[in-house]
Amino acid sequence: MNRVTSAYSFDVLRRQAQKRLPRMVFDFIDGGAEDEVTRVRNESDFDAFEFVPQPLNGTSTRDLSIELFGHRLELPVLIGPTGLAGMVWPRGEVAAAEAAHDAGTVYVMSHGSTVNIEDLANQSTGQKWFQTFMYRDRGLVKSFAERAKNAGYKALVLTIDNQVLGQRERDLANGFVIPPKPRLRHGFDMIRCLPWLLSMARTPKITMANYVTDERSDILSLGKYVADILDPTMSWRDVDWLRSIWPGPFLLKGVLHPEEARLALEHGVDGLIVSNHGGRQLDGAISSIRALPPIVDLVGGRVPVLIDGGIRRGSDVVKALALGATACLVGRPQLFGLAAGGQAGVSRMLEILKNDIDRVLTLSGWDGIGDLDRRCLSHRGDWRPRGLHGDNGDNASERLFASQDDSVGRDVQAAMPVARSYGLWRNG
Ligand SMILES: Cc1cc2nc3c(=O)[nH]c(=O)nc-3n(C[C@H](O)[C@H](O)[C@H](O)COP(=O)(O)O)c2cc1C
Repeated sequence: MNRVTSAYSFDVLRRQAQKRLPRMVFDFIDGGAEDEVTRVRNESDFDAFEFVPQPLNGTSTRDLSIELFGHRLELPVLIGPTGLAGMVWPRGEVAAAEAAHDAGTVYVMSHGSTVNIEDLANQSTGQKWFQTFMYRDRGLVKSFAERAKNAGYKALVLTIDNQVLGQRERDLANGFVIPPKPRLRHGFDMIRCLPWLLSMARTPKITMANYVTDERSDILSLGKYVADILDPTMSWRDVDWLRSIWPGPFLLKGVLHPEEARLALEHGVDGLIVSNHGGRQLDGAISSIRALPPIVDLVGGRVPVLIDGGIRRGSDVVKALALGATACLVGRPQLFGLAAGGQAGVSRMLEILKNDIDRVLTLSGWDGIGDLDRRCLSHRGDWRPRGLHGDNGDNASERLFASQDDSVGRDVQAAMPVARSYGLWRNG
């Protein structure tokens, strides 16, 4: 049995990735911002929910498919955008897109990929979306949108939580910065990771391929260029502008506040991705699963609400869907799969998820995704969305968080009507 087929969980794939990659590359994909509080809570906050199964509802087959923007996906999980995937496996973006296609789902290409928009479209099959940031140079954003449209990408994702780069302290400690600060131990580490090193040596130079021009092509100058042109003044005006030039489904990624969700609907956005960038940007931001329920309630089914951050088991997917998400995305897990075994590793990661989801549904007596709602879940702890098992859901749309402790949130709630009606800040 080869390595990836023997992996039975994301944790095993993660350990395989850790073994194969030099430490600074592994830390780059695994780490988060500052103290990594948000990265950790993204995962652990799923534990606040417990399944309330109904085993005697058993069925012989379960439907895991969903409909998203007029397309049927075999799995309610998409591969999220991750820059520099080609650093963990040669042309990793192509490998991951193929694995997504084989599993009947979507690959979301990052702006910062090591292959360019056109090459990925030509060299992989299946449905792809494109993700961009907002840059001071709006011409660049426009050219990305046009290139993605011409190359057949179905949806455009604007990531809104990247106005500046988060402070990723593992990268600082490892000298994995621009310009890089090589350390002696990196040399030994590279020797430990000889198979990775050889595979990289056989690959065309790693770069951010979408930005390459005659004047600028190496990763260091491109990395600095991209960081310099990020636009902290991005606003709803820019969302309107990008909306107006992109004809297909248009999503915002990085929505955590219900008020932001409400405004997104007003501004003609077709879908939301509840996300904190996997805890790589604003440390201390609310975990994605905790931010999800009030946003779902506010949106009320008008557009799909997707979520990423901390999905490590199929049971996490089932919980997110029961809370009202349309689908989930995975970031790090696809990179762990890629590092462990390229396309086969990403396929294995998706297969683990699919088996997990199916097993949870079977053990709980639910026919499929369509059966899931908040009555499937109970909760532990002092925060909970309304409408869960054992809660009659009265006033669900008015008061989602049930605690009566107003001490932390009162001032904030008074200042923000939506926050007040959604009780988002109760218990901090
Ligand atoms: C190495 C790495 C690179 C990423 N690059 C991007 C990016 O280019 N654009 C973006 O919107 N999100 C990016 N993300 C964030 C992911 O899209 C996603 O929000 C996050 O990884 C989800 O959390 P998870 O890793 O726990 O699944 C990146 C994440 C990682 C780990």
